Amino acid sequence: MYMKKNLCLLYLLSIFCYSHAQNENLNLEQKIDSTLSKMTIREKIGQLNQLDGRGTIEDLKVIIRKGEIGSVMNVTEPKVVNELQKIACEQSRTGIPLIFTRDVVHGFKTMLPIPLGQAATFNPELIQEGARVAAVEATEHGVRWSFAPMIDISRDARWGRIAESFGEDTYLTEKMAIAVVKGFQGDNLADARSMAACAKHFIGYGAVEGGRDYNSTHIPDRQLRDVYLPPFEKAIKAGCSSIMTSFNDNDGIPATGNSTLLKDILRKEWGFDGVVVSDWGSVTEMIKHGFAEDRKDAARKAIEAGLDMEMSSKSFIQYLEELIAKDIVSETTLDNAVRNVLRLKFRLGLFDSPYTEINKPIETYSGKHLATAKKIAEESIVLLKNEGNTLPLSSRIKNLLVVGPLADAPHDQLGTWTMDGEIERTQTPIKALREMYGDKVKIHFIKGLEYSRDKNTINFNQVLAKARQVDAIIAFMGEEAILSGEAHCLADIKLQGAQSEFIKKLSETNKPLITVIMAGRPLTISEELNQSDAVLYAWHPGTMGGNALADILFGKTAPSGKLPVTFPKAVGQIPIYYNHTNTGRPATGKEKSLDQIPLNAKQSVLGHSSYYLDLGIQPLFPFGYGLSYTTFKYSDLKAARTIVAPNDTLSISVKVKNTGQYKGTEVVQLYISDLVGSVTRPVKELKGFKRVELAPDEEKEVLFRLPLHSLAFWNMDMKKVVEPGKFKIMVGTDSESGLETFFEVK
Ligand code: NOJ
Repeated sequence: MYMKKNLCLLYLLSIFCYSHAQNENLNLEQKIDSTLSKMTIREKIGQLNQLDGRGTIEDLKVIIRKGEIGSVMNVTEPKVVNELQKIACEQSRTGIPLIFTRDVVHGFKTMLPIPLGQAATFNPELIQEGARVAAVEATEHGVRWSFAPMIDISRDARWGRIAESFGEDTYLTEKMAIAVVKGFQGDNLADARSMAACAKHFIGYGAVEGGRDYNSTHIPDRQLRDVYLPPFEKAIKAGCSSIMTSFNDNDGIPATGNSTLLKDILRKEWGFDGVVVSDWGSVTEMIKHGFAEDRKDAARKAIEAGLDMEMSSKSFIQYLEELIAKDIVSETTLDNAVRNVLRLKFRLGLFDSPYTEINKPIETYSGKHLATAKKIAEESIVLLKNEGNTLPLSSRIKNLLVVGPLADAPHDQLGTWTMDGEIERTQTPIKALREMYGDKVKIHFIKGLEYSRDKNTINFNQVLAKARQVDAIIAFMGEEAILSGEAHCLADIKLQGAQSEFIKKLSETNKPLITVIMAGRPLTISEELNQSDAVLYAWHPGTMGGNALADILFGKTAPSGKLPVTFPKAVGQIPIYYNHTNTGRPATGKEKSLDQIPLNAKQSVLGHSSYYLDLGIQPLFPFGYGLSYTTFKYSDLKAARTIVAPNDTLSISVKVKNTGQYKGTEVVQLYISDLVGSVTRPVKELKGFKRVELAPDEEKEVLFRLPLHSLAFWNMDMKKVVEPGKFKIMVGTDSESGLETFFEVK
């Protein structure tokens, strides 16, 4: 009886909530329509115009006063934000507020690790906290819309923008996308500390040919559906307010002019009612693509394809009026785009509270924010090698030599897209080591190389002389920030300058050598790995990177990061990613290497399998790889059932035990492989992960709940289905090793 009453109440409550939400939506749409009905065509077009605010402010004021702009980029001085907003609200005829935007990609002032590093945490809850930090700091400066998260699946480390991505995997990217959207937008977008998210770049931009930025992509529909689109769909389901189109043309159609993408998939299939903004100039770049004749044609193609707002290239404001007057573009098309922009402005509460508080930003660089940045950096650092337990540094080490171009590079360790980061705030490794551990060890510091591309070896002898006198060497190597990011691609992803030579020379001293790499991408470091006793991969770790590294080096924290991307041995292996489909002749692992091939060998002596004669098939490190100071043992992998239906949820459990001497956190990874499909399927796919903290000797049972619908894919008939058949479960420490069991979908 009691139960029945409760259910009844619950039912009534859900009806109330549903109708309340419906009313709110209705109200919102009424407000939008009413605003729209008072606007001239020119004012409507104005709402679709987004311009950079870094130019002459007086010119901008004139444009705002005329109502010819809807959004301003890159103004982050609250006073100026308010000054411009006041003109929009009080001096333009419509009084419609502006939205101020910025690329808040991995933090605003307090810089978090680059997104690729964030992905290495495998900790979406923490990344959500990081995104909140970014939103609070950015909104304190007047920014209410960020051009992030960047959720392009990236499988090519030559592409500089891999730094901005969450790596090669769709599932991990989905989780990170949702985390950032929630962190930015908070519970209520109208809150002054909420910032609209923008999932970018729609679509396929990470697959640019040859890893060269802005290039063409050739992604077949099935792969687009299975690999590239899902993170966007998930971001939108999580409430993401906007989407940015990408620069690339996929299969011949530039994203900014692709109505299948922008109308059929985004609006009709996914029900998206937010803003679609172009990338910088991507409307008029359709001319260079050879897809539009001129600026007028580009404007028409973009708005008709479903683009709402044009970033920076001004073809809408220049030509849409004429195109509408001549009936080439319909006013309904224009109205639909304007509706989307107004909807976002209403949702952000800008009509009610357009201004930013002018008080000195109070939470920017707060202790809490710095602590979050440090925690993310800690969890992002991946231990790649630790021979003879070189790390953590033991108390026997009394004299430590710190070297390398990244040991004290406050700008470079912040990484790409740090428009607002301040180098005075950067905790570099040398600074942090001295501050935090300077009383325990004597720290000697000689950079040896000034910057990552430095080829001048003149200081090596001085470094080596000192190296012979110390107990251990830590070499901070890597890439300057400018070597990754937009338009910063590399054909060779090795350590630049004389860094490799430097590591070799250091290793020849036979002192324990710890190499720490700070970079925006995976680098090909096979040699350096062999020459070092321990290697930590720290990405570009942000403001608090030094502190995070110091605690890891000295063992206050054990490393727990895992690679969100496969590390190739050489560029020639690219593309290399763990969730590829199988060939009909996969490598067996028994192939001959180059020096085992007999002279004058006949054609088929090497067998017929898919591998490289010189590098085999294995990467340097697989996706998901990462060591700890302790060791973990997996046992008792069990699926609750062996036969399941496509709409079931399967419970999978495994025991994980800490078998070493340090407390540590393991990222337990669940992979599934669909053994036979109507189309070929990836050899395995990540479908779950859990961070588990374990004290020495402690054992925990880790439980995954696998909704079977998450195994659906686009089949032979281009329908998204879970196909019946056998599946393999793999649970382990990375994508290459783990326990296995099977189940069947019936
Ligand atoms: C171009 C980049 O591709 C995009 O990611 C960024 O948001 C815009 N510029 C605005 O800065």
